[in-house]
Amino acid sequence: MSPQSASPAPRTRSHRLTRRCLAALLALLVANAWAVPAQWGYGAARAAASLSISPSLASSGAAGTTQSQAHSITNNSPLPQTFNLSVESRQSWAASVSPSQVQIAPGASKSVTVQVTIPSDAPPGTLGLTTLTATNVPPAAPTSLQIRDTLLVTGTAALKVPPVQMGALVGGQRTYALTEARGTTSFLPGVQTPTAGYNGTFLGPTLVFTKEERIALSVTNNLTEVTTTHWHGLHLPGQMDGGPHQPIEPGETWRPTFTVINEASTAWYHPHPHTAEMDHATNAEMAHPMVTESGATTGHQVYAGLAGMIIIRDSASEALGLPHTYGGDEFPVVVQDRNFDADGSFSPYPEIQDRDLHKGDHFLVNGTLAGTLSAPAQMVRLHLLNGSNARFYNFGFSDSRSFYQIASDNALLNQRVSRNRVVLGPGERAEIVVDLSGAQGQTLHFLNYAAEFGPADVAPTSVDDYDQANYILFSINVAAATTNAVTTIPATLNHIARTNPNDVPLARTLTLNIPPSINGGTFEMEVVNITATLGTKEVWTIVNLSEETHPFHIHDSPFQIVSRNGAAPPEYEQGLKDTVLVHALERVVLIKDFSGYADAASPFMYHCHILDHEDKGMMGQFIIVDGRSVYLPVVTR
Ligand code: C2O
Ligand code: CU
Ligand code: CU
Repeated sequence: MSPQSASPAPRTRSHRLTRRCLAALLALLVANAWAVPAQWGYGAARAAASLSISPSLASSGAAGTTQSQAHSITNNSPLPQTFNLSVESRQSWAASVSPSQVQIAPGASKSVTVQVTIPSDAPPGTLGLTTLTATNVPPAAPTSLQIRDTLLVTGTAALKVPPVQMGALVGGQRTYALTEARGTTSFLPGVQTPTAGYNGTFLGPTLVFTKEERIALSVTNNLTEVTTTHWHGLHLPGQMDGGPHQPIEPGETWRPTFTVINEASTAWYHPHPHTAEMDHATNAEMAHPMVTESGATTGHQVYAGLAGMIIIRDSASEALGLPHTYGGDEFPVVVQDRNFDADGSFSPYPEIQDRDLHKGDHFLVNGTLAGTLSAPAQMVRLHLLNGSNARFYNFGFSDSRSFYQIASDNALLNQRVSRNRVVLGPGERAEIVVDLSGAQGQTLHFLNYAAEFGPADVAPTSVDDYDQANYILFSINVAAATTNAVTTIPATLNHIARTNPNDVPLARTLTLNIPPSINGGTFEMEVVNITATLGTKEVWTIVNLSEETHPFHIHDSPFQIVSRNGAAPPEYEQGLKDTVLVHALERVVLIKDFSGYADAASPFMYHCHILDHEDKGMMGQFIIVDGRSVYLPVVTR
């Protein structure tokens, strides 16, 4: 799926082929009108089989330095060809390529070098992006191919690790307190960016919950607009879910209580408001809704900084001896993209075709630009969360070393899975364990290998430069091992039984489409779309009729993925999930479990986790009733 790559495929390429090719092939066959303009890397690569360029390079450098990035260009045609080369910097930094013309014999390759000078005033965290274009000269048929490289401006910031709240035991309940407020945060030197956070000005503390404990939270809204606080991934009663039906008005405190029944896993919390006014708002009204209460949206509140991680522990996982010293050998990795205006405030992405997607060109990890994590030379566990509004990531290390994926959204996997990439769409989580033993003194980088994406992952209608480039998200300095370091992890981690869909008689189909909609309709606060019965399971078939991937999320209990386009999902998708990527024109079958809690008056949501799609109504709601319940209409606030 990386036709621009001239080098041998990385180890997981075959997985990627099985996962993606079907959707991509389907996309090509069914939607012959992809109409991918030639400046888009993957479109051009398909059109330009007669040449290829080595993959996108991700490097870093200090402001004021000149950096070189070398590519090899291959002539795949049976005739000699001459290519003109040019390079363009997205940030208008000084950039050149030499030589500027190459003659290449059939089947041969030549190397060219791009030189980029980072201006001395470039702020750390700026992600310079250069586009190298190779165009062949007549008489050969006109073809051109582009490859995007990145250069992260380094700084001295340590990667932030959000403070942890273990909760205080009060009267048999584990209690936690969150207060949402606006403030300013410094990301760029000398600039204060207006932001919002929980117990701080950006993001929130990591809450550690333990299975079977009774939790009591207080959430105080010190914002000037309505919000809600949703516990994404937690299986709890509808009234405690923090969806659109549990508004917290400015100045109010919400006090949900519940017992943790989830297994050890990574969850998160974020706002989830949806006001009735939004159902009829125009795009222009939605553009800056933070100024009015009626326009409070999930997308804008998360973008301002309201999000935090939840780590759930349980006795079974403790017995496995996995790294679990928060901030020692275990780290949260919350990845978010942001765009900055000249005055330092966050702004929506200015140039993208679908500007409401809010994709950014700066990449924050735990709220840090170009941060460096000091991690010990041993087994290190990362809780990965894609907390971005719309962007997809293909995570991996700079040396493409393999690591173990140990958990998907809602539980440890039955077996650890060795991988060297993890794709996460907005809302998805994964836990990985990487072996850093023997690497003391080395510097590694944690990357987004987005250049490996194809049109089934990132739609031509929303693709931007950064979706076609590889880039560094943060650096890792490997320090000395700790005493009692974890040096091995078990192969078997869990015992989740797979449900056979043939044992599940109830089935329904949900279609996803663009403009953002589910089953041809959009969300309405007063309409319950699905009524399920407590204690049953249902087979849900999610059919993506659009040409872009949607991360489909369902509240309440986790689900199991049965198949993708009829094929069993890869091992790392055979565990428990609450968000699943449904690729362009793909059909994903899952089994949803309605055990746990029934409450006809407190609906749960299902929606696309691209937050602007959700805010535009790509969401529906279900209630769970027990056998004896009478249907009650939903009462809105
Ligand atoms: Cu993370 Cu309904 O949301
Ligand atoms: Cu959720
Ligand atoms: Cu979507």
